[in-house]
Amino acid sequence: MQTSIKKTIFSGIKPSGDLHLGNYLGAIKQWVAMQDDGNCIFCVVDYHAITVDQNPAELAKRTLEIAKIYLAAGIDPKKSTIFKQSDIKEHTELAWILNCAAARMSDLENMTQFKDKSQNGEENVGVGLFDYPVLMAADILLYDTDAVPVGEDQVQHVELTRDLAKRFNNKFGETFRIPKAETLKEGARIMGLENPQKKMSKSEGGDNNCVYLLDDPEKAAKKIMRATTDSGSGIKYDKENKPGISNLLVIYSLLADRKISDIEAEFANSGYGEFKAKLAEIVQNFLTNFQKRYYNISNPKALNIFKSGAKTLNRKAKTKLEVVKKKIGIL
Ligand code: AQP
Repeated sequence: MQTSIKKTIFSGIKPSGDLHLGNYLGAIKQWVAMQDDGNCIFCVVDYHAITVDQNPAELAKRTLEIAKIYLAAGIDPKKSTIFKQSDIKEHTELAWILNCAAARMSDLENMTQFKDKSQNGEENVGVGLFDYPVLMAADILLYDTDAVPVGEDQVQHVELTRDLAKRFNNKFGETFRIPKAETLKEGARIMGLENPQKKMSKSEGGDNNCVYLLDDPEKAAKKIMRATTDSGSGIKYDKENKPGISNLLVIYSLLADRKISDIEAEFANSGYGEFKAKLAEIVQNFLTNFQKRYYNISNPKALNIFKSGAKTLNRKAKTKLEVVKKKIGIL
Protein backbone atom coordinates (compact mmCIF):
# COMPACT_ATOMS: atom_id res chain seq x y z
CA MET A 1 0.00 0.00 0.00
CA GLN A 2 1.27 3.48 -0.89
CA THR A 3 1.51 5.98 1.93
CA SER A 4 0.95 9.58 0.90
CA ILE A 5 3.54 12.08 2.05
CA LYS A 6 1.95 15.04 3.82
CA LYS A 7 2.96 18.46 2.62
CA THR A 8 4.51 20.95 5.01
CA ILE A 9 2.50 24.13 5.53
CA PHE A 10 4.09 27.17 7.18
CA SER A 11 2.77 30.62 7.98
CA GLY A 12 3.00 33.31 10.65
CA ILE A 13 1.78 36.63 11.96
CA LYS A 14 3.84 39.42 13.44
CA PRO A 15 2.85 40.92 16.80
CA SER A 16 3.08 44.46 15.45
CA GLY A 17 -0.39 45.54 16.52
CA ASP A 18 -3.81 44.20 17.47
CA LEU A 19 -5.02 41.43 15.17
CA HIS A 20 -8.01 42.27 13.00
CA LEU A 21 -10.59 40.58 10.79
CA GLY A 22 -8.20 40.83 7.81
CA ASN A 23 -5.63 38.68 9.64
CA TYR A 24 -8.35 36.26 10.66
CA LEU A 25 -10.21 35.93 7.35
CA GLY A 26 -7.16 36.22 5.08
CA ALA A 27 -4.88 33.94 7.08
CA ILE A 28 -5.91 32.22 10.35
CA LYS A 29 -9.32 30.92 9.19
CA GLN A 30 -7.59 29.36 6.19
CA TRP A 31 -4.99 27.75 8.43
CA VAL A 32 -7.63 26.14 10.62
CA ALA A 33 -9.18 24.52 7.55
CA MET A 34 -5.79 23.23 6.35
CA GLN A 35 -4.84 21.38 9.50
CA ASP A 36 -5.73 17.96 8.14
CA ASP A 37 -4.04 18.60 4.79
CA GLY A 38 -0.46 18.51 5.98
CA ASN A 39 2.11 19.09 8.67
CA CYS A 40 1.19 22.59 9.73
CA ILE A 41 3.58 24.99 11.44
CA PHE A 42 2.22 28.32 12.64
CA CYS A 43 4.60 30.90 13.97
CA VAL A 44 4.43 34.18 15.86
CA VAL A 45 7.11 36.10 14.00
CA ASP A 46 8.29 38.41 16.77
CA TYR A 47 11.56 39.34 15.06
CA HIS A 48 9.49 40.69 12.16
CA ALA A 49 7.58 42.96 14.49
CA ILE A 50 10.71 44.82 15.61
CA THR A 51 11.40 46.01 12.06
CA VAL A 52 9.34 49.02 13.14
CA ASP A 53 9.38 50.67 16.60
CA GLN A 54 7.59 48.64 19.26
CA ASN A 55 6.78 49.34 22.87
CA PRO A 56 8.56 46.42 24.63
CA ALA A 57 5.73 45.69 27.11
CA GLU A 58 3.14 45.81 24.32
CA LEU A 59 5.24 43.54 22.12
CA ALA A 60 5.52 40.91 24.85
CA LYS A 61 1.79 41.13 25.59
CA ARG A 62 0.81 40.83 21.91
CA THR A 63 3.13 37.87 21.32
CA LEU A 64 1.19 35.88 23.92
CA GLU A 65 -2.12 37.25 22.63
CA ILE A 66 -1.44 35.86 19.18
CA ALA A 67 -0.79 32.37 20.55
CA LYS A 68 -4.12 32.58 22.37
CA ILE A 69 -5.83 33.89 19.23
CA TYR A 70 -4.49 30.93 17.24
CA LEU A 71 -5.89 28.53 19.83
CA ALA A 72 -9.24 30.33 20.14
CA ALA A 73 -9.59 30.36 16.34
CA GLY A 74 -9.25 26.58 16.25
CA ILE A 75 -5.58 25.84 15.63
CA ASP A 76 -5.21 22.56 17.45
CA PRO A 77 -1.76 21.97 18.98
CA LYS A 78 -2.34 18.22 18.66
CA LYS A 79 -2.46 18.65 14.88
CA SER A 80 -0.30 21.73 14.29
CA THR A 81 2.88 23.14 15.75
CA ILE A 82 2.68 26.64 17.20
CA PHE A 83 5.90 28.41 18.15
CA LYS A 84 7.56 31.78 18.28
CA GLN A 85 10.31 32.69 15.88
CA SER A 86 12.80 34.00 18.45
CA ASP A 87 12.83 30.61 20.22
CA ILE A 88 14.67 29.03 17.28
CA LYS A 89 17.87 30.92 16.53
CA GLU A 90 18.37 29.14 13.20
CA HIS A 91 15.85 31.57 11.63
CA THR A 92 18.13 34.57 12.03
CA GLU A 93 21.22 32.53 11.22
CA LEU A 94 19.75 31.30 7.95
CA ALA A 95 18.56 34.83 7.14
CA TRP A 96 22.19 36.02 7.37
CA ILE A 97 23.36 33.26 5.07
CA LEU A 98 20.62 34.09 2.54
CA ASN A 99 21.54 37.77 2.79
CA CYS A 100 25.05 36.93 1.75
CA ALA A 101 24.54 34.03 -0.61
CA ALA A 102 21.29 34.77 -2.42
CA ALA A 103 19.57 38.11 -1.78
CA ARG A 104 20.30 41.23 -3.79
CA MET A 105 19.61 44.85 -2.96
CA SER A 106 17.54 45.11 -6.14
CA ASP A 107 15.24 42.28 -4.98
CA LEU A 108 14.44 44.08 -1.76
CA GLU A 109 14.10 47.51 -3.34
CA ASN A 110 11.20 46.09 -5.35
CA MET A 111 9.14 44.96 -2.35
CA THR A 112 5.91 46.98 -2.29
CA GLN A 113 5.46 46.58 1.50
CA PHE A 114 8.85 48.21 2.04
CA LYS A 115 7.98 51.02 -0.35
CA ASP A 116 4.65 51.60 1.47
CA LYS A 117 6.12 51.51 4.95
CA SER A 118 9.11 53.69 4.17
CA GLN A 119 7.08 56.41 2.48
CA ASN A 120 8.03 59.04 5.06
CA GLY A 121 11.68 59.23 4.14
CA GLU A 122 14.14 56.36 3.83
CA GLU A 123 16.80 57.98 6.03
CA ASN A 124 14.78 57.04 9.13
CA VAL A 125 13.96 53.51 8.04
CA GLY A 126 15.68 50.65 9.86
CA VAL A 127 17.76 48.17 7.88
CA GLY A 128 15.58 45.41 9.36
CA LEU A 129 12.48 46.70 7.59
CA PHE A 130 14.34 46.60 4.28
CA ASP A 131 15.71 43.13 4.95
CA TYR A 132 12.74 41.43 6.61
CA PRO A 133 11.57 39.56 3.48
CA VAL A 134 14.87 37.63 3.70
CA LEU A 135 14.10 36.65 7.30
CA MET A 136 10.66 35.57 6.09
CA ALA A 137 12.34 33.47 3.39
CA ALA A 138 14.50 31.85 6.08
CA ASP A 139 11.39 31.09 8.20
CA ILE A 140 9.83 29.27 5.27
CA LEU A 141 12.89 27.48 3.84
CA LEU A 142 14.13 26.17 7.19
CA TYR A 143 11.30 23.64 7.36
CA ASP A 144 11.21 22.43 3.71
CA THR A 145 7.85 24.12 3.34
CA ASP A 146 5.58 23.24 0.42
CA ALA A 147 2.74 25.71 0.96
CA VAL A 148 2.51 29.16 2.55
CA PRO A 149 -1.09 30.26 3.15
CA VAL A 150 -1.08 34.07 3.23
CA GLY A 151 -3.15 37.10 2.34
CA GLU A 152 -2.49 38.78 -1.00
CA ASP A 153 -0.12 41.39 0.51
CA GLN A 154 2.42 38.69 1.37
CA VAL A 155 2.46 36.89 -1.99
CA GLN A 156 5.34 39.03 -3.27
CA HIS A 157 7.45 37.95 -0.30
CA VAL A 158 6.75 34.28 -1.00
CA GLU A 159 7.74 34.87 -4.63
CA LEU A 160 11.02 36.34 -3.37
CA THR A 161 11.50 33.26 -1.16
CA ARG A 162 11.16 31.07 -4.25
CA ASP A 163 13.72 33.18 -6.12
CA LEU A 164 16.23 33.06 -3.26
CA ALA A 165 15.82 29.30 -2.89
CA LYS A 166 16.33 28.74 -6.62
CA ARG A 167 19.35 31.04 -6.71
CA PHE A 168 20.94 29.24 -3.74
CA ASN A 169 20.18 25.82 -5.26
CA ASN A 170 21.74 26.83 -8.58
CA LYS A 171 24.88 28.06 -6.88
CA PHE A 172 25.41 25.37 -4.23
CA GLY A 173 23.35 22.38 -5.40
CA GLU A 174 19.87 21.20 -4.44
CA THR A 175 19.29 22.43 -0.87
CA PHE A 176 15.90 24.11 -0.50
CA ARG A 177 12.42 22.94 -1.41
CA ILE A 178 10.61 25.56 -3.50
CA PRO A 179 7.46 26.69 -1.65
CA LYS A 180 4.22 28.05 -3.09
CA ALA A 181 1.95 30.82 -1.79
CA GLU A 182 -1.69 29.85 -1.27
CA THR A 183 -4.30 32.59 -1.17
CA LEU A 184 -8.05 32.52 -0.92
CA LYS A 185 -10.18 33.54 -3.91
CA GLU A 186 -12.19 35.86 -1.67
CA GLY A 187 -10.81 37.33 1.52
CA ALA A 188 -7.23 37.45 0.34
CA ARG A 189 -7.45 41.21 0.88
CA ILE A 190 -9.94 42.53 3.40
CA MET A 191 -10.13 46.27 2.98
CA GLY A 192 -10.41 49.02 5.58
CA LEU A 193 -13.90 49.93 6.84
CA GLU A 194 -13.33 53.67 6.53
CA ASN A 195 -11.04 53.49 3.54
CA PRO A 196 -12.00 50.50 1.41
CA GLN A 197 -9.34 51.43 -1.15
CA LYS A 198 -6.57 50.22 1.21
CA LYS A 199 -6.20 46.92 3.05
CA MET A 200 -7.26 46.61 6.67
CA SER A 201 -3.98 46.83 8.56
CA LYS A 202 -2.73 46.65 12.16
CA SER A 203 -0.52 49.67 11.89
CA GLU A 204 -2.37 51.98 9.52
CA GLY A 205 -5.75 53.55 9.16
CA GLY A 206 -6.92 54.07 12.75
CA ASP A 207 -9.34 52.38 15.12
CA ASN A 208 -12.54 52.70 13.08
CA ASN A 209 -10.90 51.30 9.97
CA CYS A 210 -10.47 47.84 11.57
CA VAL A 211 -12.56 45.33 13.44
CA TYR A 212 -10.07 43.97 15.95
CA LEU A 213 -10.50 40.38 17.15
CA LEU A 214 -10.43 41.60 20.74
CA ASP A 215 -12.72 44.61 20.17
CA ASP A 216 -15.70 44.93 22.43
CA PRO A 217 -18.33 43.14 20.25
CA GLU A 218 -20.86 45.98 20.59
CA LYS A 219 -18.25 48.53 19.62
CA ALA A 220 -17.31 46.40 16.62
CA ALA A 221 -20.97 46.30 15.52
CA LYS A 222 -21.00 50.10 15.59
CA LYS A 223 -17.89 50.20 13.41
CA ILE A 224 -19.72 48.10 10.81
CA MET A 225 -22.73 50.44 10.92
CA ARG A 226 -20.38 53.40 10.35
CA ALA A 227 -18.38 51.71 7.56
CA THR A 228 -18.01 53.71 4.36
CA THR A 229 -20.49 52.68 1.72
CA ASP A 230 -20.70 53.86 -1.84
CA SER A 231 -22.98 56.13 -3.78
CA GLY A 232 -26.05 54.35 -5.14
CA SER A 233 -28.00 51.84 -3.12
CA GLY A 234 -27.86 48.21 -4.33
CA ILE A 235 -26.20 45.39 -2.34
CA LYS A 236 -24.07 44.22 -5.24
CA TYR A 237 -20.50 42.91 -5.44
CA ASP A 238 -18.63 45.31 -7.73
CA LYS A 239 -15.08 45.85 -6.48
CA GLU A 240 -14.35 48.63 -8.96
CA ASN A 241 -17.41 50.83 -8.48
CA LYS A 242 -18.63 49.73 -5.06
CA PRO A 243 -15.50 48.96 -3.00
CA GLY A 244 -17.18 49.59 0.36
CA ILE A 245 -20.18 47.31 -0.11
CA SER A 246 -18.06 44.70 -1.91
CA ASN A 247 -15.72 44.53 1.09
CA LEU A 248 -18.64 44.15 3.50
CA LEU A 249 -20.10 41.42 1.29
CA VAL A 250 -16.82 39.49 1.44
CA ILE A 251 -16.70 39.80 5.24
CA TYR A 252 -20.34 38.67 5.46
CA SER A 253 -19.75 35.74 3.13
CA LEU A 254 -16.68 34.48 5.01
CA LEU A 255 -18.10 34.88 8.51
CA ALA A 256 -21.48 33.35 7.64
CA ASP A 257 -20.01 30.74 5.26
CA ARG A 258 -22.43 31.77 2.52
CA LYS A 259 -21.97 32.54 -1.15
CA ILE A 260 -21.88 36.22 -2.09
CA SER A 261 -24.56 35.61 -4.75
CA ASP A 262 -26.93 34.19 -2.07
CA ILE A 263 -26.40 37.23 0.14
CA GLU A 264 -27.00 39.58 -2.81
CA ALA A 265 -30.24 37.74 -3.55
CA GLU A 266 -31.39 37.96 0.09
CA PHE A 267 -30.79 41.73 0.16
CA ALA A 268 -31.96 42.45 -3.40
CA ASN A 269 -34.73 44.72 -2.11
CA SER A 270 -32.91 46.15 0.91
CA GLY A 271 -30.93 49.32 1.52
CA TYR A 272 -27.45 49.67 2.98
CA GLY A 273 -28.80 50.18 6.52
CA GLU A 274 -30.61 46.85 6.67
CA PHE A 275 -27.67 44.97 5.18
CA LYS A 276 -25.18 46.57 7.55
CA ALA A 277 -27.38 45.89 10.57
CA LYS A 278 -27.41 42.18 9.71
CA LEU A 279 -23.65 42.12 9.17
CA ALA A 280 -23.13 44.04 12.42
CA GLU A 281 -25.08 41.29 14.22
CA ILE A 282 -23.00 38.56 12.56
CA VAL A 283 -19.75 40.30 13.50
CA GLN A 284 -20.93 40.85 17.07
CA ASN A 285 -21.90 37.18 17.47
CA PHE A 286 -18.67 36.00 15.94
CA LEU A 287 -16.57 38.14 18.29
CA THR A 288 -18.63 37.19 21.35
CA ASN A 289 -18.10 33.47 20.71
CA PHE A 290 -14.47 33.91 19.70
CA GLN A 291 -13.66 35.91 22.81
CA LYS A 292 -15.40 33.41 25.10
CA ARG A 293 -12.84 30.87 23.94
CA TYR A 294 -9.98 33.39 23.97
CA TYR A 295 -10.49 34.55 27.56
CA ASN A 296 -10.53 30.92 28.75
CA ILE A 297 -6.92 30.44 27.64
CA SER A 298 -4.31 31.45 30.20
CA ASN A 299 -0.93 33.07 29.55
CA PRO A 300 0.95 30.09 31.08
CA LYS A 301 -0.89 27.81 28.65
CA ALA A 302 0.20 30.00 25.73
CA LEU A 303 3.81 29.96 27.00
CA ASN A 304 3.72 26.18 27.25
CA ILE A 305 2.44 25.92 23.69
CA PHE A 306 5.40 28.01 22.52
CA LYS A 307 7.82 25.88 24.52
CA SER A 308 6.59 22.57 23.19
CA GLY A 309 6.39 23.96 19.64
CA ALA A 310 10.05 24.99 19.77
CA LYS A 311 10.98 21.59 21.20
CA THR A 312 9.24 19.87 18.30
CA LEU A 313 10.99 21.97 15.65
CA ASN A 314 14.46 22.45 17.11
CA ARG A 315 16.05 19.37 15.63
CA LYS A 316 14.59 19.95 12.17
CA ALA A 317 15.85 23.55 12.12
CA LYS A 318 19.31 22.56 13.35
CA THR A 319 19.67 19.77 10.81
CA LYS A 320 18.63 22.00 7.92
CA LEU A 321 21.04 24.75 8.94
CA GLU A 322 23.89 22.25 9.22
CA VAL A 323 23.21 21.15 5.63
CA VAL A 324 23.19 24.77 4.44
CA LYS A 325 26.39 25.66 6.30
CA LYS A 326 28.19 22.66 4.85
CA LYS A 327 27.15 23.68 1.34
CA ILE A 328 28.71 27.10 1.70
CA GLY A 329 31.85 25.90 3.47
CA ILE A 330 31.15 26.99 7.03
CA LEU A 331 32.73 24.40 9.38
N1 AQP B 1 -6.34 43.13 5.14
C1 AQP B 1 -5.97 41.87 5.03
N2 AQP B 1 -6.73 41.00 4.32
C2 AQP B 1 -6.35 39.69 4.19
N3 AQP B 1 -5.24 39.19 4.77
C3 AQP B 1 -4.47 40.02 5.50
N4 AQP B 1 -3.33 39.84 6.19
C4 AQP B 1 -2.96 41.02 6.75
N5 AQP B 1 -3.83 41.98 6.44
C5 AQP B 1 -4.79 41.40 5.66
C6 AQP B 1 -2.66 38.57 6.31
O1 AQP B 1 -2.46 38.31 7.68
C7 AQP B 1 -1.24 37.55 7.82
C8 AQP B 1 -0.38 38.17 8.89
O2 AQP B 1 0.19 39.36 8.45
P1 AQP B 1 1.44 39.98 9.20
O3 AQP B 1 1.12 40.22 10.61
O4 AQP B 1 2.65 39.17 9.01
O5 AQP B 1 1.67 41.34 8.47
P2 AQP B 1 0.91 42.16 7.44
O6 AQP B 1 0.57 41.35 6.26
O7 AQP B 1 1.75 43.35 7.17
O8 AQP B 1 -0.40 42.51 8.28
P3 AQP B 1 -0.90 43.90 8.77
O9 AQP B 1 -2.10 43.68 9.60
O10 AQP B 1 -1.00 44.85 7.64
O11 AQP B 1 0.26 44.37 9.76
P4 AQP B 1 1.13 45.67 9.76
O12 AQP B 1 0.17 46.82 9.66
O13 AQP B 1 1.88 45.65 11.07
O14 AQP B 1 2.05 45.59 8.59
C9 AQP B 1 -0.58 37.50 6.45
O15 AQP B 1 -0.86 36.26 5.85
C10 AQP B 1 -1.25 38.62 5.72
O16 AQP B 1 -1.24 38.42 4.33
